[in-house]
Amino acid sequence: MLRTLGEFIVEKQKDFPHARGELSALLSAVRLAAKICHREINKAGLGDIMGEAGEINAQGESQKKLDVFANERFKAALEARGEVCGIASEEEDHFVIFDNELSRDGSYVVLMDPLDGSSNIDVNVSVGTIFSIYKRVTPVGSSVSMEDFLQPGRKQVAAGYVIYGSSTMLVYTTGNGVHGFTYDPSLGLFCLSHENMRTPDDGNIYSINEGNYHKFPMGVKKYIKYCQEPDASPRHPYTARYIGSLVSDFHRNLIKGGIYLYPPTAKTPKGKLRLLYECNPLAFMIEQAGGKASDGSQPVLDIQPESLHQRTPFYVGSPKMVDKVENLIQEFKEQD
Ligand code: AHG
Ligand code: MN
Ligand code: MN
Repeated sequence: MLRTLGEFIVEKQKDFPHARGELSALLSAVRLAAKICHREINKAGLGDIMGEAGEINAQGESQKKLDVFANERFKAALEARGEVCGIASEEEDHFVIFDNELSRDGSYVVLMDPLDGSSNIDVNVSVGTIFSIYKRVTPVGSSVSMEDFLQPGRKQVAAGYVIYGSSTMLVYTTGNGVHGFTYDPSLGLFCLSHENMRTPDDGNIYSINEGNYHKFPMGVKKYIKYCQEPDASPRHPYTARYIGSLVSDFHRNLIKGGIYLYPPTAKTPKGKLRLLYECNPLAFMIEQAGGKASDGSQPVLDIQPESLHQRTPFYVGSPKMVDKVENLIQEFKEQD
C-alpha cells in the first residue's frame, strides 16, 4: 500500500511530544513548492525558463531564471504557512523577514539553496533544492534577527533536499532517520520509497572536481592518489563520479557508499560551498544515515557560523572514507 509524505509526516508527529504540528505544516509547504518546481524543471526546454536572469546574487554568481523562480516559489509557500518567521537563501543578500502578524508568531526559520547545480539546467542534468530548519532563538512575536540564522548545524530541527532527477524525490530528516519519497506526477503525490536510509560504512566512489587537482591541499592530493591506487584494497581502484550538482552527487553516494569532496585552495581558503544552506543540511542528513561530514578538521555541524553566506571546505559521505581523508589532511597539513 502506498504511504504518502503527508500521511508519513502526520504519523511521525507523535515522535515529538511537544510538537503542535507546526513542523508538519512547514514540511508540507516545502512539498508544495517542490511540486511546482518539479513541473517547471521538467518542461524547462519548452518554455522561456532556461538561461540567465540577468542579475548577480550575493556570491557574485549570475542567477539563472530557474534560480529566481525556485527562490520565489519556496519563499511564497513558506510565508503562506505562518510557521516561519523568516528565511535566508543563496539568492537573497540578506535574510528575509516575514513581517505580518501571523509570521511574527512563527517559531521557525528556514535556510535554503532553492536551486542547486543550476548550471546543469540548460543541459538537462539533475538539479536540486536544499533546506535547513531551525527553531528561532529570539522571542516569538518579535521580528526575526541574525542570531536566529547563525546557529550551529547541530541545532537543526529538520533538513532535507529535493532532487529533480530521472524521478523527483524529497528526502528529509527530523532527527529520527532519513526518509525518501518519490514523486508520482500522475497522482501529484510524494510516496514513501526509501524508509530509514543508511549509508554504507565504506564505499568506492569519490566525487570531486579533479580539474582543480593542482590547487588542492597535499592531504587531498594524497587521498585522490589513494583512491586511484589499484591494489590498496579489494575495492580499489575507486570509481570517479562527479555530476556538479551537489544534491545529485550526495544522493548517489548516500545510497551507494562514497565520498564527496570540495576542498579549499590558496585562492579560496574556505572552498566554494556554503555552510548554512548547502553543507549543514547535508551534514545533518548524512549523520542521520550513519555517515560523516567534516571540514577537514572538525564535524561541519559543530562550526559556529559567523555570516549568512559563509563557505566551508566539505568532505561528506561514508564514515570510513571521510576518516581517511581527514587523517591525510591532518598528516600533510605542514606541506600546504
Ligand atoms: P549552486 O548551483 O547552488 O550555485 O551550487 C553549485 C555547487 C554545487 O552544486 C556543485 O557541487 C558545485 O557547485 C560545483 O562546483 P564546481 O563547478 O566548482 O565543481
Ligand atoms: Mn548549491
Ligand atoms: Mn543554488
